[in-house]
Amino acid sequence: MPTVSLIAASLCLFVGFFVFSKGKNQPVNRFFLVFNFLIFLWNSGDFVIPLLGFQAAPALLYDRITQIGGILIPPSFIIFYLTLTGRRLKEIVRLTAFRIFGGLAVLLLFLVPTPFLIKDIKVLPFQEIPGELLVVEIAALMASVLFGLGHLFRAGKTAVPAQKSRLSYFNVAILVGIFCAVGWFVIISFFPGLSTNFIYVFEVTYVLLTAVAILRQHLMDIDVIVKKTAVYTILSSFIIGIYVAIILTFETLFRSLTGEISLAEKIIAAVVIAVTFQPMRVRIEKSLDKYFFRGKYDYQDALARFTRSLGSVLDLRELVNLIVSISGIMRAGNLALLLRDEDLGRLKIVASTGLPAEIQAIGFDDFSDLVRMMSTVKRVVTADELDRGPLANGFPTLKREAAFFRSEVIIPIFVKGELNGLLFLGGKLSEERYNRSDLNLLATLADAAGIAVDNAKLYGNVKRTYFETVQALAQAIEASDEYTRGHSDRVMKLSVEIAKRLQLGRDKIDTLKFAGILHDIGKIGVIKEVLHKPGKLSDLEFALIKLHPKLGEDIIKPVAFLDKIRPIIRHHHERFDGRGYPDGIAGEDIPLMSRIIAVADTYDAMTSHRPYRSALSREVAVAEIRKSAGTQLDPDIVRVFLDLLDMPA
Ligand SMILES: [Fe+2]
Repeated sequence: MPTVSLIAASLCLFVGFFVFSKGKNQPVNRFFLVFNFLIFLWNSGDFVIPLLGFQAAPALLYDRITQIGGILIPPSFIIFYLTLTGRRLKEIVRLTAFRIFGGLAVLLLFLVPTPFLIKDIKVLPFQEIPGELLVVEIAALMASVLFGLGHLFRAGKTAVPAQKSRLSYFNVAILVGIFCAVGWFVIISFFPGLSTNFIYVFEVTYVLLTAVAILRQHLMDIDVIVKKTAVYTILSSFIIGIYVAIILTFETLFRSLTGEISLAEKIIAAVVIAVTFQPMRVRIEKSLDKYFFRGKYDYQDALARFTRSLGSVLDLRELVNLIVSISGIMRAGNLALLLRDEDLGRLKIVASTGLPAEIQAIGFDDFSDLVRMMSTVKRVVTADELDRGPLANGFPTLKREAAFFRSEVIIPIFVKGELNGLLFLGGKLSEERYNRSDLNLLATLADAAGIAVDNAKLYGNVKRTYFETVQALAQAIEASDEYTRGHSDRVMKLSVEIAKRLQLGRDKIDTLKFAGILHDIGKIGVIKEVLHKPGKLSDLEFALIKLHPKLGEDIIKPVAFLDKIRPIIRHHHERFDGRGYPDGIAGEDIPLMSRIIAVADTYDAMTSHRPYRSALSREVAVAEIRKSAGTQLDPDIVRVFLDLLDMPA
């Protein structure tokens, strides 16, 4: 029936426009509309020609117009499927397959107005067919459909899970399309008496499936809306049912009591409903929400908590770990985090999960397409957008750069308006897509991360500046003494190495750095003649030297920032057996960091020149240290130290 074809063709056109309206700038959506318009044109003959009177001249003219649709479908089909996987029109025009179909289409288009191909309109029950041309059209359509299918299967091999599921929609759609074309051809060739109406069902199914595949991003949100609508419809019916039951009970009750229903009874029923309706609705709604959308709420909760904790982290490494935990919350298959390295002036990978080790070497400078594009759009970008959208225009290497991270979404981290980081999140393990609310949450997270990164960097800078100032101070003190020049720095480095072996936390290592650098600062208060005396020291002179740990402690007292290192400096000359100075404490009463510095200090003092002796060899120094384990030095730390030097304990 012409009506069926009218409905089918109009539906195709409508779907085409709908998809187009959802992304006017996206090539895929545009070509989908062109493609659907051509299907509409091709089908329109079925209902327009009977209106014009089959054999009339206008009918023949319209038949020729509809054939233009049929002829242009195969090349437009190829354009559509190639744009789907991110090919650009220029590239597609260069393809051999496109040239063959395009050439054939141009040739046939020239022949359409001539009587060479279409002499008259052949009429079959409920439909017209254009004679010999149909065979060519169907063959071209089939070939282009198979080409599209092959192309999508190839693309599917390298796609990420979410893209795969999207491509599988297209593949099913194409198979339906093939069935549609083959069915039509078989019916009109071999069973001319049969109705071909069912073909329209396939045609519409094909168009709808393709539309679903294009719009999946939007449909994920619709999915939630539909679910909610369904849930609330059931809920409303349920509540209405309860109130109908209440009213009926009231009616029956009053009727049995008074014989008829008075206005007062109606008012009582209405008041009961008004009072109980709202709390009941809220209660049921809440429990339904919890039941149906629990997964969603759980992770949104986790994200909200996550964003809050971002604000309190000042250590950059800790912050990186926190950001990486987002892959667990989102249940993403992989993740990569890049942050700006101020020294290198480029984005460098700082953490990754679920990705090959090679990506560690990847970095992007400000001129890379990825950084330029993300700096321009300033928002979360999905892999789909990179594939189909106009985002990639003008950024030729963008897709190649983004492909390293196999990501579904790219989240920019801005600090004071400048791109300071990129977070690449892979597809969800559930193969669900990231929906609109995921993307909004990730955008909020990125804003919070930006502020946190800024804070952490500022804090890091302040700490570094402090340290450099302290280091400069220590160096200035040592500069006048050729024997101890570089001593503090070496003691600091050696102590840090020991601390790392002892697996002390970053905070403790930072404290140790300051303590190492400043351990001998008290020597500034000991007269030079004593410090530089080449011979043996008198008791008085030695007593003066022994003052330096306490002097050091006093010197740094006014600096609140150095509070933690005061006891470390005070006790760096204590002995493990309790015979050291200034307090003569022993064993674990001596702060751990003082015990570490004592080992490093003793070793460095022995291996450098002193006014009263020349430097000892490494072997001799190590032998001395080994001998001092348990008396002067903490044996556990000595063991770690010898291990560090690769010497037997
Ligand atoms: Fe000292």
